[in-house]
Amino acid sequence: MTVLGIESSCDETGVALYEPGRGLLAHRLHSQIALHAEYGGVVPELASRDHIRRLPQLIDQTLAEAGVTRQDIGAIGYTAGPGLAGALLVGASVAEAMAFALDIPALPIHHLEGHLLSPMLSDDAPQFPFVALLVSGGHTQLMRVDGVGRYRLLGESVDDAAGEAFDKTAKLLGLGYPGGPELARLAERGTAGRTSLPRPMLKADHLDFSFSGLKTAVLTAYQSGHRTDEARADLAAEFQRAVVEVLVAKSLKAVERSGLDTLVVAGGVGANRHLRDELDAACRQRGWRVCYPEPALCTDNGAMIALAASMRLQAGLIDATERTIAVRPRWPLDQECVDPD
Ligand code: KG4
Ligand code: ZN
Repeated sequence: MTVLGIESSCDETGVALYEPGRGLLAHRLHSQIALHAEYGGVVPELASRDHIRRLPQLIDQTLAEAGVTRQDIGAIGYTAGPGLAGALLVGASVAEAMAFALDIPALPIHHLEGHLLSPMLSDDAPQFPFVALLVSGGHTQLMRVDGVGRYRLLGESVDDAAGEAFDKTAKLLGLGYPGGPELARLAERGTAGRTSLPRPMLKADHLDFSFSGLKTAVLTAYQSGHRTDEARADLAAEFQRAVVEVLVAKSLKAVERSGLDTLVVAGGVGANRHLRDELDAACRQRGWRVCYPEPALCTDNGAMIALAASMRLQAGLIDATERTIAVRPRWPLDQECVDPD
C-alpha cells in the first residue's frame, strides 16, 4: 500500500510517498530557515502560515515525481506531536481532509518515532531490537526499541536538549540560526581543550543528560575574554567535544546494559560529523553496529513519517476508524509503550 507522509511539526514542511517492498517513491522538503533567520529562531505563527502555503504544492510535486495519483494513495500518515501546536494542526488538517475526501485512513504519527525508524529507509537497515540515541532540537533520549510501537525510555535530558544546547551556544558565540551546523563548522577551525568545559553527568551511573550548564560555562568563558576569532573557534571545538563525549559515553553504557549490539542514532544532531566519528570508532572497537539515517533524512522530513505510518499499518497498530483533528504538542514516546517483557 502506498502511504503519503506529512511532516509539519516545526520549521520544515516535508512530504513523501513510501511503499513497502519498493521503498521511498519520492520526497520533498521545504525549509523555513530563511523565513526565521532574521528573528534568530522559529516564530511559531510564521511557521504555521508557511506550512499552509507550501503543503498543497509539495504534495502535488511529490505525487508527480513518483508518478502516483491521489487515488493510488492507501493511507496518510502525519506528525501529530510533539511540536508547535499551530504547525502540527496544519499537517493534521490537510491529512485528515485529504483522507476524508479519498475515504482512506489518516494515521497520527509521533515525530520521534519517525526519527528513530528513519535508519530503516537505508539499504543497510538495522534489525530490532536496538538502542536508539535520539538527538534533536527538542529531545535527547536513549530508548530501547524492541519493535514498532515498543519503546522504553532509558534516559533523557533533564534540561536542554543537545540540539538546543548547540543552538543556544551558537547564538552566544554570535553565529546564525540554526546554530548546530554553524557551530560544528566553527569547531573545525578550533582546538578543543584550550579552554576547559565541564562534561555534565558523565560519571553518573544513570543514563540522563544535562546540557544547560555547559551553555552557561561557554558564556562565562566568552565573557572573561575569549572573544578573538581563534578563541571562539577553540570554545566551539571544546563545547562540541564535551557534548559528544557525554553522548557517546551514555550511549555505550545503554547498549552495554541492554545486552544488545546495535545502536541507532537519529535526529538533527545525528548529522554531526564529530559525533559520528566518535561513535563509529567506539562501536567498531566493541564489535557493535551503529546505524544512521541517510544524511538528508537526519533532520525533519516527510519520509520518516510515511515510513512510520506504513510500519504501524503493517503491524496492525492503528485504529483508523476515528476521524478527528487532534494534535499533541507534548507527547512522551513511551506513553503507549507495550512492555517488551
Ligand atoms: O531533528 P531536527 O531536525 O528537529 C527537531 O526535531 O528538533 O533537529 C534539529 C536540531 C537543531 O538543534 C540543529 O541545530 C541540530 O539539530 N543540528 C546539528 C547539526 N545539524 C543539525 N547539531 C550539531 N551538528 C550538526 N551538524
Ligand atoms: Zn525532529
